[in-house]
Amino acid sequence: MPVGVVGTGGMGGMHARILHHKVAGARVAAVSDVDTERAGKVAEECGSAAIFADAGEMIRDDAVEAVVIASPDPTHAELTLECLRLGKPVLCEKPLATSPEEALGVVEAEVERGEKLVQVGFMRRYDPQHVDVRNTATSGDIGQPVLFKGWHRNAASPPGADSGWVVINSAIHDLDSARWMLDGEIEEVFVRGLDTTGSPDGEFDLQLIQFSVSGGRLGIIEVYVDAGYGYEVGVEVVGTRGTAYTAPPTGAVIRLERAYSQGVEDDWLERFEPAYTIQLQGWIEALNNGQLNGPDAWDGYAALVAAEACIASIRSGNPKTVSQPERPALYSREAPEVVR
Ligand SMILES: NC(=O)c1ccc[n+]([C@@H]2O[C@H](COP(=O)([O-])OP(=O)(O)OC[C@H]3O[C@@H](n4cnc5c(N)ncnc54)[C@H](O)[C@@H]3O)[C@@H](O)[C@H]2O)c1
Repeated sequence: MPVGVVGTGGMGGMHARILHHKVAGARVAAVSDVDTERAGKVAEECGSAAIFADAGEMIRDDAVEAVVIASPDPTHAELTLECLRLGKPVLCEKPLATSPEEALGVVEAEVERGEKLVQVGFMRRYDPQHVDVRNTATSGDIGQPVLFKGWHRNAASPPGADSGWVVINSAIHDLDSARWMLDGEIEEVFVRGLDTTGSPDGEFDLQLIQFSVSGGRLGIIEVYVDAGYGYEVGVEVVGTRGTAYTAPPTGAVIRLERAYSQGVEDDWLERFEPAYTIQLQGWIEALNNGQLNGPDAWDGYAALVAAEACIASIRSGNPKTVSQPERPALYSREAPEVVR
C-alpha cells in the first residue's frame, strides 16, 4: 500500500519510519511538510519517497493511495475532507478537528460517501495493556464495569499551551479511552483545575475531570501536563466484582539502599512506540482486507464534543451536559472490534 505522510515532525517522522521499517505491506510513497528540508531527511530515511511542500498536492497525487496526517491540529479536518473527497483512506492524528462543528463536518462528509475511510490516531486502543484492560472489562469477568479512572501526566507542556490545549490535546486521549473502555458515551462533565507553575496566563496544567457515562457509569481523569518527573499514562476499570488496571510498562524494578525504583518514560514516543507500530500494522492490514476497524470519525467527533464540554466546565465552574446527535448507522457498534 503506497502511503503519503503529511507532517514530518515528531509524530509524522515516527509514523513514516515505522511504515518503512516495520509494517508489512506498506511503502512510504511520499512525504509532505512546509519545511521541505525536514521532509527531505525523512524521505531519505524511507527509501525513495517523493517530497511535497503542499499537503493537498501530495494527497491528490495518483501515486498516493492512503494518507497519514501528522501535521498541526488546525490542518486535520481540511486535509481529511480532501482525502474523503478523493476516496482515499486516511489515518488522522488526534484531534480530528479543532472544534466539534468541524469534526461533525468530517462525519457528515463520510456518511454522505457511505463508506468508512477515516481512522483517528487514538493509539491507546492498540497498547497491549490497554487492550487487556478493555477486553477484561467487556468480558464480564470483573462484573459490570461501573467506574473508569485515568491518569495522564506529561513531564512538561509545550510553550503556549493553555487550559483548553490541555483538554483538546492531552485529555482527549483519556476521554476516548473512557468511551472505549466503558463502551458508552460521556453524558456530563465537571472539571476543576490548578495552575501548578504560576504561568502568566493562569493555565490549568493540572485538571481533574469527573464525568458520567451512559448506562449510569462514572469516570474520573487526572491530566497533568507539567508533572516534571516524566511521562505516565494509566487506566483502571472498576467492575462490580473486581478491577483491571495497567501497570508501569518498562524496566526492571531495582532494590537498592532500602528502596525500590523503576524507570519512567520521557514521553509518548517512548511509552507508546509499540502501540504506534501495532496501530499502523492494523491499519494497513484493514485497508488490504477492505474494512477499517479502528477508532473512527465518530470517535474523533464524540471525544471532541466531550472535550468542548470540559473546557466550558473549567471556564464556568459548573457541570456541563455533553450533547451530540444520534450516531449515524455507518458507525454502528456492530462493526468488528479492534483486536491485537
Ligand atoms: N497520538 C499521539 O500520541 C500524539 C502525540 C503527539 C502529537 N500528536 C498529534 O500529532 C500531530 C503532530 O504533532 P507533532 O508532535 O509531530 O508536531 P511537530 O511540530 O513535531 O510536527 C508537525 C510538522 O508538521 C509540519 N507542518 C506544519 N504545517 C503543515 C502543513 N500545512 N502541511 C504539512 N506539514 C505541515 C511542521 O513543519 C512540522 O514538521 C498533532 O496534531 C498532535 O496533536 C499525537
